[in-house]
Amino acid sequence: MNKKRVIAIDGPAASGKSTVARAVAKELGCTFVDSGAFYRGVTWAALQRGASTKNPSEVLSALKGSKWRVFVRDGASMFSVDGVEMVDELRCKEVREAVADVAVIPEVRAFVVRKLRALRRFGSISIEGRDIGSVVFPRTPFKFYLDASPEERARRRHAELVASGETEKAQEVMDSLKRRDEKDLSRKTAPLKVAEGAYVVDTSGQSIEEVTQTVLRRVGDLETPTTEGVGIPLFYRITCNFFSLFLTTSNQLKVIGSGNIPKSGGLIIASNHASYLDPPAVGAATRLQRTTHFMARDTLFEKWLMGWFLRNVGVIALDRNKGDVRAMRTAIKLLKGGASVALFPEGTRSEDGELQRPKPGIGFLVAKGQAPVLPLYVHGSYEAWSKSSGGLKHLPITVIIGRLITREEIQRLGKGREAYAKIGELIMERIAESKADFEKVS
Ligand code: DC
Repeated sequence: MNKKRVIAIDGPAASGKSTVARAVAKELGCTFVDSGAFYRGVTWAALQRGASTKNPSEVLSALKGSKWRVFVRDGASMFSVDGVEMVDELRCKEVREAVADVAVIPEVRAFVVRKLRALRRFGSISIEGRDIGSVVFPRTPFKFYLDASPEERARRRHAELVASGETEKAQEVMDSLKRRDEKDLSRKTAPLKVAEGAYVVDTSGQSIEEVTQTVLRRVGDLETPTTEGVGIPLFYRITCNFFSLFLTTSNQLKVIGSGNIPKSGGLIIASNHASYLDPPAVGAATRLQRTTHFMARDTLFEKWLMGWFLRNVGVIALDRNKGDVRAMRTAIKLLKGGASVALFPEGTRSEDGELQRPKPGIGFLVAKGQAPVLPLYVHGSYEAWSKSSGGLKHLPITVIIGRLITREEIQRLGKGREAYAKIGELIMERIAESKADFEKVS
């Protein structure tokens, strides 16, 4: 179990993240943190000292002179500035209107990020904001991005304002929300975006209670320890280092595009397959960034030494003759827990070295695992050791790591069987793209 959990809930204005983060904190008994309050606190400090909030150096010198104390009260983080406890001060009109200018100042952001990270000393936190999963706590496995259509968000904000006695018109609320979205999305430092590995929840038409339950369920799923297919990370690392050394010496292994590998969050690595050398090459090429669970046919596990080896490097056994529900479930659980799973969409090794069509199961796994896909093209492995080559040849192998296929791209392909087929095709297209790019320059 993760003792100090950071539950990061990001999203645009009026997506419900604040209410949900508060409810999640209450359910899990952790501290609720409103990160926007800290930007508002800096704005208040600046205004209090007569600084122009449009002038970064005035804001920064006001910030330097201010004294902050952060504490927890009634399950929520709070702070005082210059001895004044910030509550209503943060919601006043002057602060509300100036905070967006203050929040874009990089030094202010660095100050707030430091303060937010330091909150871990209070134990587990449920924290809402714009850049929590992407910048403040990028390593937490509990990342959420709540969204809703602009119309729905404007409706909610308008209802809130009316309830608190304000008289703004619905259209004015919509316009101001659009302006805020624009500012949040376009600012240079830490813009609003879906963090890598974040779980996206469309809250349109859902109650706060429903969204809160979705978040809690997901936190529970991520914490369920998975023993199947886990292997021994140290053994995996030693094995991949050995493969790397071996392939570099024997086949001048080269890796292109390592920067494309996401370092955290569920990930599916999908590679072409033409040789027994492909799994070692993929493991060696990605070993510095990720420990990966390969999927391999279960018949390989039948010989005891091989079976022992595969289990200890965390390989998931797959019965290729039927839709293997157990293997799929294991892979999905691992992906949802933030692990990396590698597979070969074509199923078996290519007979002629050409790319083949994807197997149907791949799209299902990708859709259900809700993870981005990293396409890899292994070049030269067919020539080095194919079904017909009669043993290992010392010919060069290059692994080209392609552009990540994001979860949004996958979601855009829709749902159901038709979408699964399209996902498989898209992955093979992207592997082919890497192949073409490589062949152009070599
Ligand atoms: O969520 P809020 O309205 O209290 O946010 C106040 C301002 O701070 C708003 O301009 C967005 C910005 N903000 C940010 O840039 N990053 C965060 N993590 C939280 C808020």
